Amino acid sequence: MSMNQPTDESPAKSLYQNPPRVILMAGKGGVGKTTISAATGLACARAGMKTLVISLDTAHSLADSFDVPAKLHDKHQGLPFPVAERLEIQELDVQEEIERYWGEVYTYTSSLLSSTGLDEVVAEELAVIPGMDDVVGLLYLNKYAREENYDVVILDCAPTGESLRFVSLPQTLEWYFKKLFKLERNLMRLVRPLAKKAIDVPLPEDVVYRDLESLFARLEGVDRLLLDNTITTVRLVTNAEKMVIKETQRAFMYFSLYRMTTDAIIINRLFPENTGNSYYHQWTDTQRRHVAEIEEIFAPVPVCKLRLFEDEILGTERLGRLGEELFAEKDPVGIWFSKRPNRFVRGENGNYIVEIDLPFVSAAELNLHREKDDLIVRVGNFKRHIPLPRAIRRLKHKKAKISAGILYITFADENRSE
Ligand SMILES: Nc1ncnc2c1ncn2[C@@H]1O[C@H](COP(=O)(O)OP(=O)(O)O)[C@@H](O)[C@H]1O
Ligand SMILES: [Mg+2]
Repeated sequence: MSMNQPTDESPAKSLYQNPPRVILMAGKGGVGKTTISAATGLACARAGMKTLVISLDTAHSLADSFDVPAKLHDKHQGLPFPVAERLEIQELDVQEEIERYWGEVYTYTSSLLSSTGLDEVVAEELAVIPGMDDVVGLLYLNKYAREENYDVVILDCAPTGESLRFVSLPQTLEWYFKKLFKLERNLMRLVRPLAKKAIDVPLPEDVVYRDLESLFARLEGVDRLLLDNTITTVRLVTNAEKMVIKETQRAFMYFSLYRMTTDAIIINRLFPENTGNSYYHQWTDTQRRHVAEIEEIFAPVPVCKLRLFEDEILGTERLGRLGEELFAEKDPVGIWFSKRPNRFVRGENGNYIVEIDLPFVSAAELNLHREKDDLIVRVGNFKRHIPLPRAIRRLKHKKAKISAGILYITFADENRSE
């Protein structure tokens, strides 16, 4: 894998002839991600596009949302199956996939992790790998994008934290592969014969590395696909409640940090006004306040509103109705907002200014440093490598400031007097 060049307008187009439109539906648990993914999928299919909705949440409820009988969906063992004309769904089954794709690696890592006396650092790095459900999701996304099976792929994400792990994974794996495995592999060839006798810890066989290499080959390009906002956008589902809004803000910031564009905030479960039921007065007031707040803090990203329906949303009939309300004025596959979260702007005197949208972050939470051709931005536990365009690499980063949710970093030529 290689990181994309940030200056390219559509970095993935060189790798994929005819990529699908990819929509990530993300947000806190229970806000309505699965329901809205299903309704979006149905709307796309009805508009004539061949559509797949993939559930990345290990607690799957996508098939339930379409009211598919359990017997029928168990039969498909984690592979796509049709639920309506031009519409398929897939509930990933990590266990199945590990057997299909990743047997050796899994056997090795699990035996390694369960053994003792291992160098702590190595154990820690290996523990990164158990984001296997994410890997499986990325593998499928890449496969469908390469094989051009679908016009639209909708990813029904796991709750926020895990979906962020999903999008940061290509970068983690790249690091992992480069730093650990290339090195280890050579080392292992030398030490294995000795070590086998001396210690109890299992050592990886060459076949493990071969498996890993083919895994990386299958993932090649998927990061470009995710970062290309002419292809992929995030839709954040939220509710008009204080605690949910907070999490939505964090999610928005982290997706921006990973250079992904959020093209809509969808506020779900709004109590209809004027129901004549005084019991909900307080709720409608509170929600009205929060809706105004959401519109203000996320502007200019479009905000969509969806009412709480009379009953839970099960089956294509109800999903269809929900979709009609959500997409009354919008094309479900449209890219509703396309400003890039990072911009590279040419300033005076050959200076460059890197602008990164980092809403809701204070300067105190932020940590910046350079590592070769990357700028590394760290906020709390998350960090992001921002590959610098060639023109900027030879410059030194001079100053940084945050203003109105945008981080500005000035890069200047050392040898030039200002
Ligand atoms: N607008 C709505 N009106 C009525 N019920 C809804 C609405 N949105 C979601 N639900 C119901 O809420 C429950 C949780 O929604 P779900 O989509 O599974 O959330 P998530 O995937 O974010 O965890 C489901 O039973 C679903 O039918
Ligand atoms: Mg769900």
